[in-house]
Amino acid sequence: MGTALITGATAGLGLEFAWQLATARHDLVLVARDTERLERVAGHLHAAAGVHVEVLAADLSDRADVDRVADRLRSTERPVGLLVNNAGFAVRQRFVDGDLDREERAFDVMVRAVMVLSHAAAGPMTARGRGAILNVASVAALTASGTYSAHKAWVRSFTEGLAVELAGTGVTATVLCPGFVHTEFHERAELDMGAVPEAAWLRADDVVATALADVRRGAVISTPSVRYRLVSALLRTLPRSAVRAVGSHRPGSRAR
Ligand SMILES: NC(=O)c1ccc[n+]([C@@H]2O[C@H](COP(=O)([O-])OP(=O)(O)OC[C@H]3O[C@@H](n4cnc5c(N)ncnc54)[C@H](OP(=O)(O)O)[C@@H]3O)[C@@H](O)[C@H]2O)c1
Repeated sequence: MGTALITGATAGLGLEFAWQLATARHDLVLVARDTERLERVAGHLHAAAGVHVEVLAADLSDRADVDRVADRLRSTERPVGLLVNNAGFAVRQRFVDGDLDREERAFDVMVRAVMVLSHAAAGPMTARGRGAILNVASVAALTASGTYSAHKAWVRSFTEGLAVELAGTGVTATVLCPGFVHTEFHERAELDMGAVPEAAWLRADDVVATALADVRRGAVISTPSVRYRLVSALLRTLPRSAVRAVGSHRPGSRAR
């Protein structure tokens, strides 16, 4: 897969992708907003794994920044063979009386950037006849929990459609649909996750190892753990009225 470009590479799943890909001898391009943290992570990865690590500071809610990342994906110098569209955050508000700016930022990072960067990567990859795109959605894609699940449903559906379009080109598209994972995600959004039982949590290293194995075998949908494969099967078969009822009682949601 050559060089891998990972968005949201400084924490949680993105950082774990960076470590596992570096260990597998892939050069890296790391994308996130915090430049200092990017440089620190790049230094650790280069020192530990000896791979070439570039950093690209970008806010994916900013169109000009997304364009800079897209330009890197089109570059023929150290061409990107794996794009991991991972950056994201919890919206954590009701829609009707919530802050519309926050909604737009969430949409831009988790939907618009995924579309623009997939487009920028897919052209050169198909021209070379090889490559892979991994988009991080969530099991929430199958639920009805606010705009976050709508964004993740878009990512899931978009990636499936992309995989169909890419069939036979040598390029694959995979969507990762994890359940709860121990990362900075909930803490950053100040979500109270106390009600979620320990058995519901996944480890970032297990999630990423499953996702990369699924990318390597060309799977379209990657759902780490038997537990969450069962949850996903249940969400796909339950009547939507039952799914909506679960969504209205999701952990971390503010009861009001
Ligand atoms: N954790 C879970 O339970 C879970 C479950 C299902 C799906 N997911 C999905 O997994 C993905 C990764 O989440 P995580 O749990 O690893 O979260 P995390 O630990 O909070 O890490 C988020 C990463 O995204 C970057 N980021 C956030 N906003 C950004 C922006 N505007 N522009 C560029 N980079 C940005 C952050 O760096 P900077 O702050 O420096 O930009 C950080 O590197 C997300 O798409 C999330 O929706 C998570």
